[in-house]
Formats: sequence, structure tokens, C-alpha cells
Amino acid sequence: MKIFLIGPMGSGKSTIGKVLSERLEYDFYDTDKLVEKVVGKKIKEIFEQNGEQYFRLKESEELDKTRKLKNAVIATGGGIIENEKNRLFLKEEKKVIFLDSSIERQYDRTKESQKRPLLNNGDSMKILKELYQKRLSFYQEVSKLKISMDNLTEGKIFEKILDFLD
Ligand code: S3P
Repeated sequence: MKIFLIGPMGSGKSTIGKVLSERLEYDFYDTDKLVEKVVGKKIKEIFEQNGEQYFRLKESEELDKTRKLKNAVIATGGGIIENEKNRLFLKEEKKVIFLDSSIERQYDRTKESQKRPLLNNGDSMKILKELYQKRLSFYQEVSKLKISMDNLTEGKIFEKILDFLD
């Protein structure tokens, strides 16, 4: 089984994904890390030197490569659903979980981050809000389960995920 975690930056996809993969004894992948590895640069450098479009191309290629994986938890970058091909791919998957989060929580969890170049061009609260408005319907469209992360303990989050996977 393959489990995809989608949702905005700072919603907890990597944190939850890692723990989930350990519990299930699955492999853990993160599309941002896969892109960094294949390009040989950090996300920040890719955006600066190659541009966002190039990053999106590589992100899409890495998502496509996950087809061949088995027993894996895959955390995806927050913008992965902007690409129609990626949405079609995810829609075909059975276990796509949308980790939803308030803008305030996204902000708190991303403010020290080096891997979110999109937030470095001005008022990051405003940018997070705009991205969320633009992307929310896509997250909803491709996911089979939505978890609102704001007031849940880690225990509750896993309970919901494991119930869904049963
Ligand atoms: C992005 C989210 C980031 C990373 C890149 C762009 C986005 O991943 O892919 O900075 O467009 O929302 P996380 O969602 O893991 O922060």
C-alpha cells in the first residue's frame, strides 16, 4: 500500500509521515527530498538558480516515479496539486490524506524555514493565505480523507489515519 500526504506547508506532512512509516514499517519518502537529491541542490537554490517552473517539473517527475513503490508513505510538497497531471495521478490513488491546518499554524510552523522560498518574498502570512485560497479545492478534490490538524493530539491523528487505512 502507498499512502500520500498532501496539504499546505507546515501542516505536518513530513513529521506525521515519518512516524506513520515507522509504525507501519513502511519506507518514507518526501518529494522535496527526492527533488533535492536528483537535482543535487537544496530547494532554496533550485528556486533561486533554476526557477519555480523547473522545480515543479522535477517535483512532477518524482511524483510519477512513486508509481513503482510499494509499502511507502510519501509526503508531498504543498504546491504539488497545482499541476493537473499530478492531480490526476493522485486522484487515481486510494490512500491520499489531506492534512489541513489553519493559516496561523502554518505560519508558526514555517517562519524559521529555509526550504520555503515562496514565503521569502514579502508578507508570508498574506502569501500563505493566498496559496491556501488558491489550493484548498485541489487538496479536497484529490484526497480521500481530510484531517484538521489544529487541535488534535498526535495520538488522535494516528487513530484517524489508521482507521482510514483499515
Ligand atoms: C511549496 C512547499 C514546500 C516545497 C516548496 C514549495 C509550495 O514543501 O515543495 O518550497 O509551493 O507550497 P512543504 O509543503 O513540505 O513545505
